[in-house]
Amino acid sequence: MSSLLEGKKILVMGVANQRSIAWGCVQAMQSQGATVILTYQNDRIKRSLAKFVGDTPLVECDVSEDENIAKAFKVIKNAFGTLDGIVHAIAFADKETLEGGVINTKKEGFNLAQDVSAYSLISVARYGQKLLKNGGSIVTLTYFGSTRAIPNYNMMGVAKASLEAIMRYLASDLGEKSIRVNAISAGAIKTLAVTGIKEHGKLLKLSRDRTVDGLSVTTDEVGNAASFLMSDLSTGITGDILYVDKGVHLQ
Ligand SMILES: NC(=O)c1ccc[n+]([C@@H]2O[C@H](COP(=O)([O-])OP(=O)(O)OC[C@H]3O[C@@H](n4cnc5c(N)ncnc54)[C@H](O)[C@@H]3O)[C@@H](O)[C@H]2O)c1
Repeated sequence: MSSLLEGKKILVMGVANQRSIAWGCVQAMQSQGATVILTYQNDRIKRSLAKFVGDTPLVECDVSEDENIAKAFKVIKNAFGTLDGIVHAIAFADKETLEGGVINTKKEGFNLAQDVSAYSLISVARYGQKLLKNGGSIVTLTYFGSTRAIPNYNMMGVAKASLEAIMRYLASDLGEKSIRVNAISAGAIKTLAVTGIKEHGKLLKLSRDRTVDGLSVTTDEVGNAASFLMSDLSTGITGDILYVDKGVHLQ
């Protein structure tokens, strides 16, 4: 076993099942010696997690309300003290908003997508900074539909553009506390979130066809890059986007 993250305590938010990118992060970080704590959205997901997370601690946190985030970080502080890192791997838009095209987006759908997929990073960073040690690291997950009009990605692309801007401003705000904030722009991977996108099979194929080796990126590969960003090997990197998409964004 390697020990890149030996002695580090990392909070991972956004595991829904074993296909989740966040689960790839958990496995990579645990194999590098980290102690991992998970948050889950609701009881349904908690029941699913119970089948495969073993004794990894679980804390409830639906990020749609600030109070829930405040409460979760209070629970984490009381039970585990400080943290070295936080992975934010959370996004949501309702079906109508995702499928309707940006042109048809209603205010409620816009607000919900921005709220859960982008604003939540601000709230997580605000409450999380109190627990993060000097040298702490926050990583969020984005997609290059933030800068390109990817078919059917729609409002989620708008939310990701917002998330990326938030990431840069948070990196600036938290710099004086020596807390770094970065994003990983992952290639398309078949997860629960992706299956909410209309014609997601085409999106996955488009992405796979453009990787340099014709193979999709894996959650393990994203998890390994997230481990690097959590580690002391990346102390010079903040406010940046690391593409883990096997070159798709270049083509
Ligand atoms: N799968 C991809 O192709 C891909 C590519 C690039 C970026 N991403 C991003 O990676 C992140 C993780 O997504 P994933 O693909 O692993 O899918 P996933 O469905 O496994 O994970 C999404 C997570 O968001 C959580 N979530 C949604 N609403 C929430 C709320 N109100 N409170 C708390 N949690 C909530 C869900 O419970 C779930 O755990 C997302 O930000 C997604 O946009 C995914």
